[in-house]
Amino acid sequence: MSRLLVYGRKQLRGETPIQGAKNSVLPILAATILTGDTVALQHCPHLRDVDISVQILRALGCDAHWEMDTLVVDTAGLKGWKISDILMREMRSSAIFLGAMIARCHQAELSYPGGCELGPRPIDLHLAGLRALGTDIDDSGGTLHCQTCGLLGRELVLSLPSVGATENLMLAACGAEGCTTITNAAREPEIVDLQDFLNACGAEVRGAGSSTVTIIGGKRLHGCTYTVMPDRIVAATYLCAAAAATGEIFLRNAKEEHLTTVTALLREAGCEIKNDTAGIACCCHRRLQAVGPIRTAAYPGFPTDAQAVLMAALLRCQGTNVFEENIFSNRYRHVDELVRMGADIRVSGRVAVVHGVEQLQGACVCCTDLRGGAALCVAALAAEGKSCIDQLRHLDRGYEDICRDLSALGADIKRVAS
Ligand code: EPZ
Repeated sequence: MSRLLVYGRKQLRGETPIQGAKNSVLPILAATILTGDTVALQHCPHLRDVDISVQILRALGCDAHWEMDTLVVDTAGLKGWKISDILMREMRSSAIFLGAMIARCHQAELSYPGGCELGPRPIDLHLAGLRALGTDIDDSGGTLHCQTCGLLGRELVLSLPSVGATENLMLAACGAEGCTTITNAAREPEIVDLQDFLNACGAEVRGAGSSTVTIIGGKRLHGCTYTVMPDRIVAATYLCAAAAATGEIFLRNAKEEHLTTVTALLREAGCEIKNDTAGIACCCHRRLQAVGPIRTAAYPGFPTDAQAVLMAALLRCQGTNVFEENIFSNRYRHVDELVRMGADIRVSGRVAVVHGVEQLQGACVCCTDLRGGAALCVAALAAEGKSCIDQLRHLDRGYEDICRDLSALGADIKRVAS
């Protein structure tokens, strides 16, 4: 076990490259099943969730190995179609493998993905879409038994723009005869990255990034070499770190067009943010001002994954901020830990009211979930004295090495055995 030790109130100064995107590489790893060939994923982040996906692929009979920051996956030898309960419990988002396995193997079996720290994580939209494409799904007894005699493309309408459902149905539709359109699709940049990967493998997918995605199925896909997009939430985290601690940082290969709702609020709070093709520069040299209500929403709205880290950046601002978490039912678990540092936050249902305080004090705190843990790191950089942060397994799911990156930006942070 290890913990982070952070000494706060030190201005940041430095630059760091931004890792590949967790929420892009996970569906892309599932999509490799469709190729039955070798895929080289460059800029692939070394994360716990990627490791679990590799375990799943290997358990299904595929090969996978690392070459520096390139993950090479060969799915020619795929022979299984079952994902073990143990691996499902390790990573509930493994449900993303369903669509590709049904498209390739005409069957799939996995235990129902449970909820997570953020609350219930239903997959009813995934299952409804797979059934509409011609999959028989028996979901009694906690295990999903899926099989098909062949998938047939058709129009699918999502009742809400679910990221995972959009991705799962894009993958299944690649294996369906004819054309599939997904209406009210999620519009996240990671969906565009998945489309670009599929098309690099010979698929014909159009419209990702808009509310209607069209897939012409039945094509024989092949392997490719693909570079994963930079992680926009990791970039948001480090921008919030600079806002919290003040200083001047540069995030190499970060793309502001993926983060405009976050950078707009940071500018409103008083940060100077500039971007060019090389990355994003952020400069902050004074106490932040409160901003208008922060309401999380599906892309291009304010990302729910950046809610916790922005809250942490605004804890010492002048004035009061109001957050409204509209995507997940239990995404304020970091609040109690932030209050231990002296934050003034009141939560009522989906709303959190954050009154700016003059000072935060370093404290011993525990990560409650992935982005809540990142928020503790951001807050610790703004706090007087020493903070220690435990339960780092949550952070390791989505940050390749937050200690390395924040150190490169000038933070006094160490990872030590606990
Ligand atoms: C993806 O989760 C991301 N995970 C999440 O990032 C992110 O917070 C979320 O999208 C929203 O942007 C990955 O990409 C691996 P959804 P996903 O389906 O696909 C409800 C992180 O921190 N819903 O868009 O599970 C659901 O309950 C993680 O990196 C249904 O009701 O999100 C939620 O309220 C956390 N039925 C809302 O939709 C369904 O069938 C959005 O979920 C599916 C979803």
